[in-house]
Amino acid sequence: MDTTGALVGYATAAGSTRGVAERIAARLRRSAVPVTCLPLGPDVAPEDFGAWVLGSAVHGMAWLPSALDFLQRAAEVPARPCWAFSVGGMAPAGPLRRRMVAQELRRVQRGFPPHLVVRDHQLFVGVVDTSQVNAAGRACWRAVGGRPGDQRDWPAIDRWAAEVAAGLQAHQRTGPGTT
Ligand SMILES: Cc1cc2nc3c(=O)[nH]c(=O)nc-3n(C[C@H](O)[C@H](O)[C@H](O)COP(=O)(O)O)c2cc1C
Repeated sequence: MDTTGALVGYATAAGSTRGVAERIAARLRRSAVPVTCLPLGPDVAPEDFGAWVLGSAVHGMAWLPSALDFLQRAAEVPARPCWAFSVGGMAPAGPLRRRMVAQELRRVQRGFPPHLVVRDHQLFVGVVDTSQVNAAGRACWRAVGGRPGDQRDWPAIDRWAAEVAAGLQAHQRTGPGTT
């Protein structure tokens, strides 16, 4: 990784993805990985960073536009190690929800530029507000185990961040193109 370190970039609508991103950034810093944590926008240049850890709230099984725009620009510069995290409304607990979440991750990732290599893409649950969802939608979502409120699983986020830190450290040790 070059001296500018890793970008933990995120897109959020209601704020919970920012909390997840900040937690990941803090965990990477504990592993001595230099990190900048920023909301993704047109002013954030992919080429300014040596690695990308990118996340977005999921709306309609897709990332928010500012995150998708960053991915398009990232796909046009020389590749960096890249990890992705999605923040959605359903915990991957139990076989049915694990299948649903895996399917959702595939749907989300179909919106990424095809030649962008993502080392791992993880889904975390965020803060779920069902006040805007109609009664039928709420009933369906509850039937498969969805719950409102702050569902963020900090230990799971920390575990994933530790894996990313290990990947970044390996990349730092061996140099670009080898990990
Ligand atoms: C309009 C809207 C659409 C959503 N669509 C999805 C979806 O397709 N899949 C999902 O898992 N969660 C969906 N959610 C839930 C959000 O992704 C979840 O609440 C997340 O924590 C929001 O992140 P944020 O607080 O960073 O905006 C949706 C929420 C809203 C408000």
